Amino acid sequence: MKPLSQDWLAELNLSPLWREREPVALAPSPASEGASATVIEVAQMDWAQLKQTVATCTLCPLHEKRTQAVFGVGDEQADWLFVGEAPGAEEDMQGEPFVGQAGKLLDNMLASISLNRSERVYIANVVKCRPPGNRNPEPAEAAACAPFLDRQIDLLAPKLIVALGKVAAVRLLGRDASIASLRGQVLNYHGRPLIVTYHPAYLLRSLMDKAKAWEDLCFIKRTMQDLQSAERTPI
Ligand code: URA
Repeated sequence: MKPLSQDWLAELNLSPLWREREPVALAPSPASEGASATVIEVAQMDWAQLKQTVATCTLCPLHEKRTQAVFGVGDEQADWLFVGEAPGAEEDMQGEPFVGQAGKLLDNMLASISLNRSERVYIANVVKCRPPGNRNPEPAEAAACAPFLDRQIDLLAPKLIVALGKVAAVRLLGRDASIASLRGQVLNYHGRPLIVTYHPAYLLRSLMDKAKAWEDLCFIKRTMQDLQSAERTPI
């Protein structure tokens, strides 16, 4: 296994600035034209049904301007789940999360702890469609998309969830708090370990916090090792 490396930190100095960025009935159901999938139906979907439902979702206004919904990417048996905020312009065009500048940084952060986006890692967002002008998703948009992320998490059953930034942290924890107050702890999403760290797009703009993000990555890696050794130890 490659040693932990801080190479990605150096790249922060080179990266261009990242640009600024209620209903309960859900998307039109692929099964029954004109009808809507309910939260309960979404909670029972398999991967294929869920992808199809997300691709055709018209639940919130974000669908109006999207090129495509951005479902998620990675290993569907992943131990690690990284959750971001919402697709940006590049993601909207390519249909894959974190492929722009912030994505390059996320890839470097993953590499620094010997991970990559296609092996044992899954990457998803709180909302699946790009908010115009890369603004933060509105709470109602995050709420409309919530059953989709919840179902992705159920299907994946990751060992560890990493919330990237405040939007993901607030959505998964169900409470408002600063990243500063949440980082460095193992929190809990529906009984699954959850760690909060800075969003890569924030790190592109806020070089002061890069050392803290590095501490978080080391903590994330150690926590996974602890979880894995606890699994191996018979009770
Ligand atoms: N920022 C996010 O939170 N998600 C993406 O997919 C891209 C940028």
